[in-house]
Amino acid sequence: MNMRRFMEPYTFANGAELRNRIMLAPMTNFSSAENGETTQAERDYYRERSRGVGAVITACANVTPGGQGFPGEIGVERDELVPSLKQLADTIKGEGAKAILQIFHGGRMAPPELLPDGQPVSASAVAPVREGAVTPRELKPEEIDEVIEAFGEATRRAIEAGFDGVEIHGANTYLIQQFFSPHSNRRSDKWGGTLEKRMAFPLAVVESVMKAAEKADDDFIIGYRISPEEMENPGITMEDTMQLVERLSSEKLDYLHISVQDFHGGSMRDKSDSRSRVQMIQDAVGERIPVVGVGSLHTPDDVDKAMEGGVPLMAIGRELVVEPHWIEKVAEGREDEIRTELSVDDREELVVPEPLWNAIVNTPGWFRVKEHAEK
Ligand SMILES: Cc1cc2nc3c(=O)[nH]c(=O)nc-3n(C[C@H](O)[C@H](O)[C@H](O)COP(=O)(O)O)c2cc1C
Repeated sequence: MNMRRFMEPYTFANGAELRNRIMLAPMTNFSSAENGETTQAERDYYRERSRGVGAVITACANVTPGGQGFPGEIGVERDELVPSLKQLADTIKGEGAKAILQIFHGGRMAPPELLPDGQPVSASAVAPVREGAVTPRELKPEEIDEVIEAFGEATRRAIEAGFDGVEIHGANTYLIQQFFSPHSNRRSDKWGGTLEKRMAFPLAVVESVMKAAEKADDDFIIGYRISPEEMENPGITMEDTMQLVERLSSEKLDYLHISVQDFHGGSMRDKSDSRSRVQMIQDAVGERIPVVGVGSLHTPDDVDKAMEGGVPLMAIGRELVVEPHWIEKVAEGREDEIRTELSVDDREELVVPEPLWNAIVNTPGWFRVKEHAEK
């Protein structure tokens, strides 16, 4: 069997080493306790998926109480959560993977019932385009400073908990993206108005995280996740994103993670443009910053093919829910045994916490699910 290129180790510029080039993509699992502490079921799920991959990026963790985006989300907004975060970091690292905490604020996407005052906030008071969406309250300048500070504090807690890194969640329509988006950001102060000013909040968050990370070892990893485009009009275009990417690649970030559903997918704004958004970004940044690709890479061949254009790292998400031992099966020459669909009978065997399992089976089309395994 040919050695798969993604099985080669990878060393970041800061010296951090991954045993291979596959990362577990960040996936919300709805399974933390109501107070934000990680649970045993959640840690068991991560343990099962940490044995092979180079790094595990956790589900997003909220940096302020007002930023909670999902029920059962990991919390990183209070010092009391550090011991439970440490249990999670230890679980992942104990299996040989790097542990990276994804830090986030849900902004206008946060469900009111999860928030202390029931009021989502954002750059501006513009509701997301979706049925039943709540109009957020515009953040005041001093509140913006507090959220930026909270990203730094979350990083400090991640360091205290023993994480090997953090990923700044600047993607998937949440608060950081909301500041970059001309749809959700209609401000005319220093945080909005021009493309340059829409970048100010994302860059201030990066700075706050970097400052907090000065207290960590040199090989502490700081990644940044973006979504390249938005469907809305106005909305983030690829031209906007290329400028943000340009700025981010001159920061001392360790990687840039491009969040798309399909690695090879084209534009969501212009159906005639079929170029892979990830590849376009890779071509633009070259070797200046490592790019992490992701999106419907189900098989080892899919991952190998995606790497042909020079993207050095790949994340796989649903694939590792469906097949926790994806990497081990590659390493042992058992690729033909890799599962690519979920059987409704296999929850316990796959070590998937019940809240995540229920979300999966109740959301048609999200995962490849077969009703009952042929026995
Ligand atoms: C159950 C589930 C939860 C997710 N939660 C997050 C999340 O917390 N943060 C994030 O950045 N992306 C999240 N995503 C997106 C994934 O990281 C990934 O980009 C997407 O699933 C495509 O990759 P895949 O085809 O390998 O699954 C989630 C995806 C799934 C399926």
